[in-house]
Order: sequence, then C-alpha cells, then structure tokens
Amino acid sequence: MSDATMRGQDVHLQAMQVTYPNGFTAVQPTDLHIRAGEFFSILGPSGCGKTTILRTVSGFVEPSHGQVLIGGADMRGIGPNGRPTALIFQNLALFPLMPVWENVAFGLEARGVGKAARRQKAQELLELVALGDQGEKLPSELSGGQRQRVAIARALAVEPAVLLLDEPLSALDLKLRQHMRAELREIQQKTGVTFIYITHDQGEALTMSDRIAVMNAGVIEQVGSGDEIYSDPASAFVASFVGEVNNFAGRIAATEGEMARIDTASGQLLARNPRGLAVGDQAILFVRPEQMGFGEFRNTFDARLTRRDLEGAFINYEFVTDAGQHLVVHQTNHGAPGGEMTRARVGFDPGSALVLPEGPMARTGRELAAQ
Ligand SMILES: Nc1ncnc2c1ncn2[C@@H]1O[C@H](COP(=O)(O)OP(=O)(O)OP(=O)(O)O)[C@@H](O)[C@H]1O
Ligand SMILES: [Mg+2]
Repeated sequence: MSDATMRGQDVHLQAMQVTYPNGFTAVQPTDLHIRAGEFFSILGPSGCGKTTILRTVSGFVEPSHGQVLIGGADMRGIGPNGRPTALIFQNLALFPLMPVWENVAFGLEARGVGKAARRQKAQELLELVALGDQGEKLPSELSGGQRQRVAIARALAVEPAVLLLDEPLSALDLKLRQHMRAELREIQQKTGVTFIYITHDQGEALTMSDRIAVMNAGVIEQVGSGDEIYSDPASAFVASFVGEVNNFAGRIAATEGEMARIDTASGQLLARNPRGLAVGDQAILFVRPEQMGFGEFRNTFDARLTRRDLEGAFINYEFVTDAGQHLVVHQTNHGAPGGEMTRARVGFDPGSALVLPEGPMARTGRELAAQ
C-alpha cells in the first residue's frame, strides 16, 4: 500500500436530524460539509451529540430525517461495513493476546487477504505510526500512546476514506495527549484521509484542526478555523466554551456603525457589534483576558486584586471591580505589576471586545468544580 492509495472523501450532512427511539432528539436538523482530506473536529461539552453524529456517519445509527453523503454517495441503508469509514472508539480495545502486527492486520483477514500480504501491510502501517520495530510485542508491552497508535494503524488498515475518531486521547495523561496531537496531525497529512475528530478539549481542537464545529445541545453553533472561532465567536456559548473570557451582561444603548454601546452594571461600555444587535436588545459583552490591560482605556474600571498567579512567562490576575464584576487579566511577564499591587485601573479597547445576543453560555471549569 502506498500513501497515494488512501484518499480522503468529503462528508455531507443534509438537514440531518437524529431522534433516538425514546423520543429524545440528540442532533437537531444539521447541514454540514466536511471537505475531502480535511482534519475536522467537533467540539462540545458532554452529552451535546458528538458521538451521535459519528454514529450516523459510520452507519451504526440511521438519521431520523435528512441524509449523510460520503464522496457524494447517499449512505441510506448502507451498514457500517459497506461504508468507506473506520471508527476509533472513546475507549479503544486491542486484542491482548495478539501481537501488535496481528492487531493491525485484523480487519484484513475477513477480507481474504493472505498472511504474507497481511504481515507486509501491517509493517507499512506500523512504520507510518512510528512503531516499525514493535510489531512482535503484545499490546501490554507498549505504552498508552503506543497502543493508541496501534489502534490508529488498525483503523487505517482497511483503507478508509474517512477516519472517525471519538475522543481517542481521553485515556492518556496530559503530556502524552499533547505529544499525540502532533502525531495524529502528521499521520492525517501523510495519508490524506479525512479525519473527523470528536473532543470536548478545546486545546486539542485548536491545535490539530483545519476547521472546527462547536456544538451545544444538539446544535452546531459555529463552523470555522480555530482563529475564527476564538477571535470571532458566533454565539455566547462559543465565546464562553472556547478559551477564557470576561463577560458583562447588559442592554444595547446605542449603535454606531460597526460598534455598539451597552449599558451594564459596570457602566456604559463600547465594543464591536458583529451580529448587528439593535438598541434595546439584551446582550453580553465578551473580552478575552489577554486583551485586558492596566491603565486608561475607552472601557476602564477601578478594581481590587483578589488573586495573582505567576505561570512563568505569563501572569494571571483576578480582580473584582467596585461594581462587583469579576475580571481576569492575562499579561506576559514583562513589566507586569508585581504582587505588592492591591488595586488597579484595568480596561480594554472597544476593538478587542464584542457584543453577542444573550444566550446559553458554557459553564466554566470553576463552576463545574464547585458543584
Ligand atoms: N441510544 C440512546 N438513546 C437515547 N438517548 C441517547 C442514546 N445515546 C445517546 N443519547 C443521548 O443523546 C445525547 C447525546 O449523546 P452523545 O453520546 O452523542 O453525546 P456526546 O457529545 O458524545 O457526549 P460525551 O462527550 O459525553 O461522549 C445525550 O443526552 C445522551 O444521553
Ligand atoms: Mg461521546
């Protein structure tokens, strides 16, 4: 098998909805086009419907409405074995008593490939995932990251056009997970296979993907590059789920071209208005911690320092304004105020903040931990 024999195909969800037999709609009608050869991530909190989308692409679940097209072909009525897809589950399982190479070649035996050809192909795939000299070992003799790469090689053995990965790194520790991000990206680029990668970890999605869909409660709220999603979130949920953010609730008081003034408990603030909110609309102003600074800005607050964490290259500050608003400020450790500070003027420029319609926001890690 040469790399050229693996070729990605596109995946098209057309008005696709999934309602489970108990009547629960896990995926609201969705239109989504995933390009051939793309590393595409679906990012969202637990229970939002990510695995359900993968199940419909792989053929384990039929959509209740709409269709799935792969490489332009309607997949209706075609089961998992008839589709050009392979799936790597949330909790991967290798066969513990089979050497690594047989694990990789497992799917080929059912397809009538002879032993010598299976051995040969397994070897090529093991080299692709940088395990060329590990084929004779048992899975238990490998590290967690190596086992994960065996699972990827096994999924690639059947030459899928689309590889579906359901949180494949979730069982690994943080260091290994970060290392595997780069490896997965490299394998995807070498093979040209379309990867659909499910995760609830924004760092994974941002570092690996060509594009990301951010999903909440059965709805894809935004599709875009990592930069687009981080800098120009389409909804309150996306703004608060991807990255840290400061938010101010209020009501639009005036609009001026691309900008809007918003009345908040911390006074009237000025920000970008990308969704064209109108006077009187309930809205939330969002600004990233690294866009906040010390001194005088168009939007500035008197605030009391409640916490200062030195992270080495960065310093994270937490403040409470005199109006009771919590603020997070991230600064590079280069002339940033030291630990002796108790109060400060902090603020941000209007161009680095935006107002979005009031809507559901993601719960932060701190809120979840406090439960
Ligand atoms: N077979 C089923 N019957 C009924 N409801 C289901 C079924 N499978 C999943 N659900 C529900 O559908 C919703 C979406 O589930 P899904 O497994 O797609 O979530 P997920 O985004 O993959 O979550 P996680 O990150 O926890 O894996 C959940 O509310 C879940 O309880
Ligand atoms: Mg899942």
